[in-house]
Amino acid sequence: MKVLVVTCSPNEDGLTAACGEAARQGIVDGHSRARVINLNGFHLERCAVCGNGWGTCRTQHQCCLEDDFADLQGMFGEAEGYVLVTPVYYGEPSEAFKAAADRLRRCECTKPEDAPSVLSGKPTIAIAAAGGSGGGAVHCLGVLERWLRQLGAVPFDLIPVAQRSREYQLETIHDALAAMCAAPAAPVRAAATEARSDRRPPRRGHSGRRNTTRDK
Ligand SMILES: Cc1cc2nc3c(=O)[nH]c(=O)nc-3n(C[C@H](O)[C@H](O)[C@H](O)COP(=O)(O)O)c2cc1C
Repeated sequence: MKVLVVTCSPNEDGLTAACGEAARQGIVDGHSRARVINLNGFHLERCAVCGNGWGTCRTQHQCCLEDDFADLQGMFGEAEGYVLVTPVYYGEPSEAFKAAADRLRRCECTKPEDAPSVLSGKPTIAIAAAGGSGGGAVHCLGVLERWLRQLGAVPFDLIPVAQRSREYQLETIHDALAAMCAAPAAPVRAAATEARSDRRPPRRGHSGRRNTTRDK
């Protein structure tokens, strides 16, 4: 399995980086291939909200902004599984993650069911690296889980880490990745069905035509 480890902290030797390294080692020990990236090293603008709310993300499933986003989207496409590691900022993922995630969601969630999101059916472990209190780590993981389900990915595990739980949670991350790499692949169809159930139903008074744009 080719696993993309996505980190998004400015600290190269902080808790996020340590979690990413534990994940990388678990992937290698699980006889799989790891690619580790840090979104803070990418040039990623925030979504420009083109037109009246939708741009080429809806029609072409690509972003019109000229930065590193297309490369990142390609990396998600090539991978067969993911690890998302974010520092907890105000109970949420980092700004670098959110800038990338907003744009990836627009491009991937708007794809048709016969050619779904590049994340569809792929196992993912999300990790929230928090500070001393650990407050907000669970909320942060909730944000990540919702995003993953909207994109059709399969959350394999959600792991909160705080400074005081660092030692044993790094072991957990390692073991979780080794287990994910050893697990049989989830059927894509089941994951896509689960993702659809996360969409809101059509509004009352709607003409009855199915809304083909996935509600995020
Ligand atoms: C802007 C900001 C907001 C933060 N908010 C939280 C928070 O809500 N809960 C928490 O436990 N830690 C919070 N922290 C602490 C970081 O999550 C913690 O230091 C984490 O280890 C950062 O990851 P790093 O070591 O990779 O930099 C915050 C830190 C910053 C800079």
